[in-house]
Amino acid sequence: MTDFAQLAEDIAREAGDMLLAKRPTMSGVVATKSSPTDVVTALDRASEELIRSRVRAARPGDRFLGEEGGEHGGSSGVRWIVDPIDGTVNFLYGLPDWAVSIAVEVNGEIVAGVVNVVPRGEVFTAELGEGAWLGGERLRCNTGVPLSRALVATGFGYGAERRAVQGEVVAAVLPRVRDIRRGGSCAVDLCSVAAGRVDAYYERGVNHWDFAAAGLVAAEAGAGLGGLHGRPPNSDLLLCAAPGLFEELHDLLVTLDPERDG
Ligand code: IPD
Ligand code: CA
Ligand code: CA
Ligand code: CA
Repeated sequence: MTDFAQLAEDIAREAGDMLLAKRPTMSGVVATKSSPTDVVTALDRASEELIRSRVRAARPGDRFLGEEGGEHGGSSGVRWIVDPIDGTVNFLYGLPDWAVSIAVEVNGEIVAGVVNVVPRGEVFTAELGEGAWLGGERLRCNTGVPLSRALVATGFGYGAERRAVQGEVVAAVLPRVRDIRRGGSCAVDLCSVAAGRVDAYYERGVNHWDFAAAGLVAAEAGAGLGGLHGRPPNSDLLLCAAPGLFEELHDLLVTLDPERDG
């Protein structure tokens, strides 16, 4: 394991331990962001501060992008992309799918990703070209699954207008697939594709910190990861599935969502 991957894993574990210890007494909403459904807790902020201070101590020249604190400069060509709690609403309600997500990007390419799904005691790791792992087990996504037999995870971005469209799209996808899951954490959903726990995941409106680490986990497990029409994933679409299913679901989503370009 490279120094980057090891450091990312150590910090993700430390942040996870802190969150588990403090959650019982400190999990209330402290603010809303883009909409009333877009909440932040004191522990989202505390987790990001812990992660940033550990990164700064170990690698003072690196850049840092976090959901809660935004971008911090650096000159090394290395950037840490962090979601301090992915799945804040699950965290708030005591549901088990939330995670600390840390990715390391070198010269614009993600080289290491760690997703610590704290309540489940599962730490997913990946390094570019070295595979995706859960503990000692190498991960492989499901292959050869047609859309009609696919278990498909999705998510809904914050904001009522966007949700209305997403509701129409998911209503049209549902009769064409095995079933739908809405887990509540983009990072966990992508790791679930990697581990073969679902066959595919799509969402509109995700941010870089949601998928930077888990996207590498899924890609290293053999899944395709992309956006619309061969572009990289972005806020228009993040889609993840094995080749074949990826294209089938992509083409369906393009026809269903009139707001998507193309
Ligand atoms: C959210 C979760 C959720 C997804 C949203 C994300 P947060 O992240 O990943 O599953 O549907 O699009 O914003 O706010 O809990 O870090
Ligand atoms: Ca958030
Ligand atoms: Ca997130
Ligand atoms: Ca978050």
